[in-house]
Amino acid sequence: MNFALTEEQLMIQKAAREFAQQQCLPGVIERDELQKFPKEQLVQLADLGFLGMMASTQYGGAGMDTISYVIAMEEISKVDASVSVAMSVNNSLVCWGLEHFGNEYQKQKFLVPLANGKKDNNLYIGAFLLSEPEAGSDATHQHTSAIDKGDHYVLNGVKNWITNGNSASVYLVMAQTDASKGPKGINAFIVEKNTPGVLVGAKENKMGIRGSDTHSVSFTDVIVPKENRIGEEGFGFSFAMKTLNGGRIGIAAQALGIAAGAYELALAYSKERKSFGKPIHEHQAIQFKLAEMATRIQSARLLCFQAAWEKDQHLDYTVSAAMAKLHASDTAMWASTEAVQIHGGYGFVKEYHVERLMRDAKITQIYEGTSEIQKMVIGRGITR
Ligand code: CAA
Repeated sequence: MNFALTEEQLMIQKAAREFAQQQCLPGVIERDELQKFPKEQLVQLADLGFLGMMASTQYGGAGMDTISYVIAMEEISKVDASVSVAMSVNNSLVCWGLEHFGNEYQKQKFLVPLANGKKDNNLYIGAFLLSEPEAGSDATHQHTSAIDKGDHYVLNGVKNWITNGNSASVYLVMAQTDASKGPKGINAFIVEKNTPGVLVGAKENKMGIRGSDTHSVSFTDVIVPKENRIGEEGFGFSFAMKTLNGGRIGIAAQALGIAAGAYELALAYSKERKSFGKPIHEHQAIQFKLAEMATRIQSARLLCFQAAWEKDQHLDYTVSAAMAKLHASDTAMWASTEAVQIHGGYGFVKEYHVERLMRDAKITQIYEGTSEIQKMVIGRGITR
């Protein structure tokens, strides 16, 4: 067993850290306040090769391993989780899903520009459309329908909480073709945003990750050619679940970054701020908080690395990914709350960043499977 990062992984960590500090930190408070989508930052991420980090070089990706992806996600999430969620969805749900389950035509047409993050010099990213107003955790109950018309399908329905909902050019959409078959009657489709009948709803006004572009998307008699179906007829639910297993590593790494970012700010503040005649980290009440934060964060990091390593080794990483997400997201919520506490009144105002990290942390316990769903996945896995 080797816990040391490789030279390449250390370089990625440095590049991600510099990007976060130089390109994300300036303006992050304003973007959060104004709910401004970080388009400029995503274009820069595309130039760094971070929007298709794990995609093969033959399909326009950077061909890096999942550990590198976790490292980059951690560094960027320390500063701006609205940037990192867009990066995560494009990498682990959209690009990974297309590379592993798409056919050659779909890879050439969609994966190549998605992994590049650009097409015709414009930002080109994707979104993953599974959730619906009445199908969140209960994802098998898809109401969006995809009626088979021979050489094409006709899609009708509404999808909710879609990350990159307005900024994406390509949607991966799950829809029910044959309700009598339950999950085995669900298909996954590639739908271009500019297809007639696709309508993007208003941007959600959220508690956290406010720069992230979260919308509902509706489909009215949208014609999708058969060549845009991913995999065999009825593969859509399996596609969604398999893809989400990897997505959960990305969100776990995001949660890790939020926790670590809050911890680093609290540690620095505790050395500057004095009370009762000494820096507050010399008070045991604060030092114990910092010690527990550091310990829980390191355990979350190791779980992320283990899940990423298992994925790179082509092992079954379903349970490890769920464990990483469950633990890292709880750590993010707890550690960011402690970071606010350590900052006292200053933690409650925007310019110290920790209140934003605390608001951003909450979503990591909800999206790509709530903590309760992760416990279901872990429970089923360990008792099987
Ligand atoms: N990996 C692989 N396959 C899985 C799986 C997993 N993690 N979980 C379920 N499956 C398979 C099952 O094996 C089963 O297939 P078989 O019949 O061939 O065995 C099939 O899927 C149906 O599963 P279940 O019978 O277990 O169905 P269920 O309804 O009891 O449970 C669930 C399914 C696990 C609860 C699933 O619905 C789920 O994961 N829900 C959470 C959905 C979710 O994560 N949504 C996130 C939205 S996307 C998002 O947030 C993106 C974003 O924009 C940031």
